[in-house]
Amino acid sequence: MSSVVNNLPEVQLNPYFTGFSCVICGQEQARDFTDNVCPDCGVDGILDVIYDYGRIRNECPPKDAFAAPGAGGLWRFARLLPVQPAASHSAWTVGGTPLHDAQRLAAHLGQKQLLIKDDTGLPSASLKDRAAAVAIAHARLLGVEHLACASTGNAAASLAVLSARAGLSSTIFVPAKAPEAKLAQLLLHGATVVPVDGTYDQAFDLSLVEIERNGWYSRNCAHNPLLVEGKKTVALEIGFALTIGFRRHAAIWPDVVLVPVGDGCIISAVAKGFAEMHRMGWTPTVPKIIGVQAEGASPLAQAWAQVDSGHAQMSGPEIRAAITPTACQTIADSISVGIPRNRIKAWRRVAASGGGFLAVPDETIVEAIGLLATHAGVFAEPSGAAGLAGLLAARDKGWIRDGQTVVTLATGHGLKDPSAGLGNVSLPAAVPPLPTS
Ligand SMILES: Cc1ncc(COP(=O)(O)O)c(C=O)c1O
Ligand SMILES: [Zn+2]
Repeated sequence: MSSVVNNLPEVQLNPYFTGFSCVICGQEQARDFTDNVCPDCGVDGILDVIYDYGRIRNECPPKDAFAAPGAGGLWRFARLLPVQPAASHSAWTVGGTPLHDAQRLAAHLGQKQLLIKDDTGLPSASLKDRAAAVAIAHARLLGVEHLACASTGNAAASLAVLSARAGLSSTIFVPAKAPEAKLAQLLLHGATVVPVDGTYDQAFDLSLVEIERNGWYSRNCAHNPLLVEGKKTVALEIGFALTIGFRRHAAIWPDVVLVPVGDGCIISAVAKGFAEMHRMGWTPTVPKIIGVQAEGASPLAQAWAQVDSGHAQMSGPEIRAAITPTACQTIADSISVGIPRNRIKAWRRVAASGGGFLAVPDETIVEAIGLLATHAGVFAEPSGAAGLAGLLAARDKGWIRDGQTVVTLATGHGLKDPSAGLGNVSLPAAVPPLPTS
């Protein structure tokens, strides 16, 4: 094991983490299984992490269950995470982001209650740091010092930032057309960048081959099931804040949670988090989870609309067959994904919550960036504002009613791609300065 890895605090497996189950065939694997996907179902046989929920429920009252001693930040929820660092470190102690009660924006939209879970302030300025934190901790446990991923930009930025903090190295496969600010993050933090002259989907396929060939740690969330668990903490933080965490919110519980969707990892994670908290009796219900895609990259929303009913009863192969890969054209680069790798998991969990998928045009995303910035003081990149754009669309469709309480996730900071937001504003003409005396 290299000294770089050894210099990080120790990490162990969570004793409540018991193994994995395949989203297609349900076959279970022990927790030391390291092949990422189901041996029978191949690359679509993505695994779900399972815990001994009965033991957690019996042994940890909610107050304790939500607060493991140890490494701080998202590790407060270490009982529901696969790995547990012994101490905090800047490479993995992230999370604890604000849940804004956006009263002015709610009043403007005529929505009873609107909460914004604001992940724009994380170290690399997107929610993806939650997954990268778990990746670094797991790599520490395995003694692997080189990590790699494919990314539309933000997963890569999170890996580059947190690897730099840990002193580990990373290789990143990214579409050459990713926004400049995101590419700057990668290069400045010292990642090896492989710009792929193609789509994110093509970068992903190339990354899988190179990760396998080089024995790197895979920080591909759509492949490595442990990383979705890190993203899950965004839901656990909402649950914690609205139940026992902050008494001022005690009477509020969301009817609906809106999540932007590319590969479908964040939404799978959010839905899993709410389902687990409910299963253990810590929270009142599982809210409806609504996945929002950009119209120009909406394979899940299109397939959802084509199935009349029985979404929740569909088998893995039926879901896979219903979703057709699409070409992508949208300003929301982070969710510009034609083949959502986590589509089966995302569909299953969204259907189980009673929610659905919908698509929004780019103009609505631009409008949402402006609304968030002006009425809530949150500057989100296009994908980060897509959840709010989805609220506008879902209200039009009758999926969300005025009197409901809604949470939307702001998943990435607007400074990563400010050009889209500028569609809302224009610079006033310059005025002359004071005359020189
Ligand atoms: C800011 C932002 N929002 C949403 C998403 C979509 O997440 P997922 O690909 O897990 O569906 C991404 C993914 O890159 C992102 O960077
Ligand atoms: Zn399987």
